[in-house]
Amino acid sequence: MPQYHQFDALVVGAGGAGLMAALYASKGVNTAVISKLYPTRSHTGTAQGGISAALGNLEEDKWEWHAYDTIKGGDFLCDQDAVDIMCREAIDAVIDLEHMGLPFDRTPDGKISQRRFGGHTNNETKKPVMRACHAADRTGHMILQTLYQNCIKNNVKFFDEFQVIDVLIEDGKCNGVVAVQLATGEIHVFHSKATLIATGGFGKMWKVTSNAHSLTGDLPAAVLRRGLPLEDMEFFQFHPTGVYKLGILLSEAARGEGAVFINDKGERFMERYMPTLKDLAPRDICSRCIYTEIREGRGIGGKDYVYLDFRPEQINKYFEADGNPKRIDAHYLETRLPDIIEFARVYQGIDPIKEPVPIQPTAHYAMGGIPTDNDARVLADETGRIVEGLYAAGEVACVSVHGANRLGTNSLVDLVVFGKRGGIAMAEYCKQASFRPIHRDAAAKAGAAQLDRIRNNNGNERPHAIRKEMQAVMDEKVGVYRTGAGLEEAIDKIHELQARYKRIRIDDKGFKWNTDLMEAWELGALLDLAEVTAFAALARTESRGGHYREDYPNRDDVNFLKHSMVWKNGTITLKYKPVRITRIPPQERKY
Ligand code: FUM
Repeated sequence: MPQYHQFDALVVGAGGAGLMAALYASKGVNTAVISKLYPTRSHTGTAQGGISAALGNLEEDKWEWHAYDTIKGGDFLCDQDAVDIMCREAIDAVIDLEHMGLPFDRTPDGKISQRRFGGHTNNETKKPVMRACHAADRTGHMILQTLYQNCIKNNVKFFDEFQVIDVLIEDGKCNGVVAVQLATGEIHVFHSKATLIATGGFGKMWKVTSNAHSLTGDLPAAVLRRGLPLEDMEFFQFHPTGVYKLGILLSEAARGEGAVFINDKGERFMERYMPTLKDLAPRDICSRCIYTEIREGRGIGGKDYVYLDFRPEQINKYFEADGNPKRIDAHYLETRLPDIIEFARVYQGIDPIKEPVPIQPTAHYAMGGIPTDNDARVLADETGRIVEGLYAAGEVACVSVHGANRLGTNSLVDLVVFGKRGGIAMAEYCKQASFRPIHRDAAAKAGAAQLDRIRNNNGNERPHAIRKEMQAVMDEKVGVYRTGAGLEEAIDKIHELQARYKRIRIDDKGFKWNTDLMEAWELGALLDLAEVTAFAALARTESRGGHYREDYPNRDDVNFLKHSMVWKNGTITLKYKPVRITRIPPQERKY
């Protein structure tokens, strides 16, 4: 018999968005969180450099400037009403976190300290502005700990190390989820009035990625299999500064503190491409510039990487050249960027205080995901029809506040603002809704069948081999640079891998802590998401933000100022919906 649980509000995922939603839902109704990890191991904990809010603590700033930068950074694909909400509410959200106990770094007069980040500007001078509130380079870690403690205080019930494998949707309404308890292999049915998905990204489609092993797109794939669409899947961000070959993130905060990129000639090459913002240009632009340097033979030693230079004496020279009176020393950097300095020492055997660090762009962030409205309610189609009882927030969702390219720090803003809005909306909904009946045994049986199919399959294909080939083709053909021919090859390859996936075999046939089984199940989710990503990318014959088509190098507002929606019901269907433009007409993107 499956185990059965009933909660008014259910949250899947215990990162920043999930915990913020749970915290606010729990102020009104009985709330539970299901997480496949121990909550404080969620990926929000790896967010490093900061969370932006126009507090203006160190220099003049306005939320309208933050909104303009976000829209321009997103290459004008953002829904502008949602961006206005995010940037306006960011200010209260950061103060809210401070009041919950988050230990932000401080200015000498005791205010929350702020630093520069890519694409965030004073709209009048066009120069970088200090907008990112930070706790060293552990800002996400601090947010996660603070929210978890507050959820515990608020009596949120946690189901740790439970992996959700199905979403219960009937007649266009969501009634809960089916999960497997990883320690026992038992199936649990969670019955709810409202369910919010906050499971983060799905960067494990790529090999070189900053994403944790857990980011396998389980819930977007489950939603897709239930006949719902995903939005803007072709837009995936490559963060410029991943540890060479490993992809582990070295925060953009390094450049916020003065670090620069240098090529094999020792040249600070971003000056050539983006003379105003230079190394603090948005990520899509920096990643393309790095690859241009590499392709033109100026990678270090002719190889496929460049340097991030944050040696203090060099930073001071760059400050001097830029007319910036600031000067720093090794102690300053060790205090402001302790984790990434340690990462370079541990993973690369390099001391960034003394030597420049080899970096390459790394698959980092999904701009697309489960479509929602501004209250985190999931949309069923391009007309905006709501799936009653289903919500999504954070990276897994597409509101869309990031458009075609997210600005650094705005993921943390997104997850606290829309996590909170989702939590409040769920509580309001639950107070007037009743539990809809579910067929709990049938739901459990269908969940168990998904796993048994893999457990009992006796084919000759190995999941790890399929995963490796998927990641290779995604790195090569669905990366920073794309072409129509390359995307077609990627789709063919993914179809081949999906066929081979049907013939997989795993060694562990057991139930307890069967990571062999769960990783194989996750691979199925990743393959589905890789397929729709490549499909949406092939159809978008323009270049915008993180989606760069070498065969269509220009942005095409006439034909593509629109969001894609993709369904996978046997075959793949693509539809489009307009971008909501309220205040800022699309412009050329110069920095
Ligand atoms: O570079 C970073 O610290 C990453 C921040 C982000 O993705 O927003």
